[in-house]
Amino acid sequence: MDETVLVTYGSTNGSTAEIAEHVGAVLSKEGLTVDVRPAAQVTDLAPYGAVVLGGGLYGGRWQRDARRFARRHGRALAERPVWLFSSGPLDPSASEREIPPTGGVQRVANRVDARGHITFGGRLEGEVKGRIARMIVKSGKGGDFRDFEQISTWAATVAQDLRGPGT
Ligand SMILES: Cc1cc2nc3c(=O)[nH]c(=O)nc-3n(C[C@H](O)[C@H](O)[C@H](O)COP(=O)(O)O)c2cc1C
Repeated sequence: MDETVLVTYGSTNGSTAEIAEHVGAVLSKEGLTVDVRPAAQVTDLAPYGAVVLGGGLYGGRWQRDARRFARRHGRALAERPVWLFSSGPLDPSASEREIPPTGGVQRVANRVDARGHITFGGRLEGEVKGRIARMIVKSGKGGDFRDFEQISTWAATVAQDLRGPGT
């Protein structure tokens, strides 16, 4: 595929942003042209041939920018190959088994006819935004549960699908 792949995300505390950067780096290494951008900064999907959209999970829903992006660009997304990812669990569960999308994310997947969805582990540590987030970190229940090997493997399957058979 010659067109640019957009990797975009909704992230409050930065961990989903880093996952998106990692996905973008793998896609570029696989020979694709990639643009990694926060969802709130993307106004037009015309320059993009495919989209990877990710959101941090807050109370069982994607972070707001990811939700808005999916709503605003629903039609353009439905016309392109789209992959979705969620990032959330603050335990090793996402590395151990497949965690299905939450209800709202599944509805987005259905609406845009997404080619795939995966849930990655999350991260919450250090300086975080929000009272509950600070409480989680203070109580020792935070940490970094992202599995970058798992993220690389998934991104490579996206690249392979975009490049098509025999490449
Ligand atoms: C208030 C709050 C609610 C959360 N709700 C969920 C949730 O419903 N499901 C989940 O898997 N993780 C949940 N998490 C963990 C976050 O999804 C995780 O920290 C994620 O990596 C945050 O992404 P971000 O750094 O890109 O904002 C929650 C964290 C906070 C602070």
